[in-house]
Amino acid sequence: MKCVNLPEIMTAKVISICNLKGGVGKTTIVMALAEYLAGDTMYKKRVLAIDLDPQSNLTSALMSEEIWEKKFESKKLTLPYLFKDPEYFLENVKNENFIVKHNVSNVRNGNSFAHLHLIPSSPRLFEI
Ligand SMILES: Nc1ncnc2c1ncn2[C@@H]1O[C@H](COP(=O)(O)OP(=O)(O)O)[C@@H](O)[C@H]1O
Ligand SMILES: [Mg+2]
Repeated sequence: MKCVNLPEIMTAKVISICNLKGGVGKTTIVMALAEYLAGDTMYKKRVLAIDLDPQSNLTSALMSEEIWEKKFESKKLTLPYLFKDPEYFLENVKNENFIVKHNVSNVRNGNSFAHLHLIPSSPRLFEI
């Protein structure tokens, strides 16, 4: 595997929302927080949401099934492939636009979420 030197990522803040219990609001919090931070009126942060749940609820909330299939799953650019073949994933991910659907949560912090991105998950994550 290639060594990736990404100084911007090294300074990025990582926020993890984790709990073993289902149905406690993890996905809802991630969506609201991501839109709040990426919204154009206040923080205007570049946000990368990473869906680490094979149930892929965050992915289905933020991305249409058609785009998920055509642009990501069929091209092996969903999260399980980052683990299976990191070199391929990191090389090919550069050409993709990860900008996702807007206004999925009820957070209304601006109208533009141009800086909200997602690495989509896939049920294939169960295999890993
Ligand atoms: N603060 C809240 N108050 C009431 N219902 C909530 C709240 N946060 C989440 N929910 C609801 O609870 C359910 C489970 O939330 P979800 O975010 O999918 O949980 P998880 O990701 O932990 O499984 C959803 O129907 C969601 O709309
Ligand atoms: Mg969830």
